[in-house]
Amino acid sequence: MSLRKPMDSITDIAISVSGLSFSYGTNAVLNQVSLSVGQGEVLGLLGPNGAGKTTLLHILATLLKPRDGGVTYFGIAASDDLNGVRGNLCLIPQERAVDILLTVAGNLKLYALLQHVRANRIQEITRKAAVELDLVPHLRKTVFQLSGGLIRRLQFANALISEAPILLLDEPTLGIDPEGRRRIWNLIRDQAKDKGRTVIIATNDMGEADALCDRVVFLRHGTTAAVESPERLKALSTATVVRVQTSPVFEQLPQVSNVPGLVDMSIDHGVLQVGLTGLSGNLLTLLYAVQDSGRAIESVNVRPPSLEDAFAALVSHSLGREVAQE
Ligand SMILES: Nc1ncnc2c1ncn2[C@@H]1O[C@H](COP(=O)(O)OP(=O)(O)O)[C@@H](O)[C@H]1O
Ligand SMILES: [Mg+2]
Repeated sequence: MSLRKPMDSITDIAISVSGLSFSYGTNAVLNQVSLSVGQGEVLGLLGPNGAGKTTLLHILATLLKPRDGGVTYFGIAASDDLNGVRGNLCLIPQERAVDILLTVAGNLKLYALLQHVRANRIQEITRKAAVELDLVPHLRKTVFQLSGGLIRRLQFANALISEAPILLLDEPTLGIDPEGRRRIWNLIRDQAKDKGRTVIIATNDMGEADALCDRVVFLRHGTTAAVESPERLKALSTATVVRVQTSPVFEQLPQVSNVPGLVDMSIDHGVLQVGLTGLSGNLLTLLYAVQDSGRAIESVNVRPPSLEDAFAALVSHSLGREVAQE
């Protein structure tokens, strides 16, 4: 598949976002978001539900206008050449974008027609997409007969049929079984690495971001925080969150740098909160260290990490950052 040539000025940056703000009425969703994405890069937009991922993707897709700030695509603003910019974009939306009355084959053909694929190439291109997505056994079924996972796979065919150099994917594997997810991840990687396409993928799954993305940006409460490295993301997404309530309460961070597996540490209303990886022995070492600080342990709560924890750890200017880098 040959990619459409980027517009006039060719740079290494595919998308550049600067000072972007957006509100729905009085609900401020994005606040001064800036980021850039290189050609052939897979950028993860990671954030909890309601963080504004879909809103940002819709602005990038030129479906919504920002209140402030702007976006350029290969150096060109949408306001300068809307049709040219749109020709470079393919959005796979989060909600279902299939015609439920058509068959799978019919939807593939419709995608090809909407993408202006030449009539003599429609058969070849839709067939290839069906094979790559393992949709061949389902070609004659109507969308009514498909499971949620199959519908998402069908929808992803749009990305394979389109030749736009920028793919905007909104939670593309939501509701797909693990095998189907891996298949789509591989296809996304191929699009970036072999075809040089730029991919921005919104997800609320740290595992997906870790498996797929070259770089990850966290989005929460309208602002972003970049993840320094995939290793850091992995540490944050696998660390158990331990909350230790003590008497007296903590007013400042204790000296516990001898505890193995410590990823992050903060104090939340006097409660010590620690991100901890590794064996349960590390938890015991932590608890001994807390006792050695002269406090009685009142309760210990252990749970898996959430996106909120990872984000808080990333934006905190606490000792956690230095601890993580030791
Ligand atoms: N069409 C809309 N009208 C008004 N508010 C909206 C609309 N779409 C989303 N929102 C609100 O904007 C915020 C961000 O939503 P969204 O971009 O869908 O987040 P995400 O994709 O990260 O879950 C939420 O508070 C949501 O309720
Ligand atoms: Mg969304």
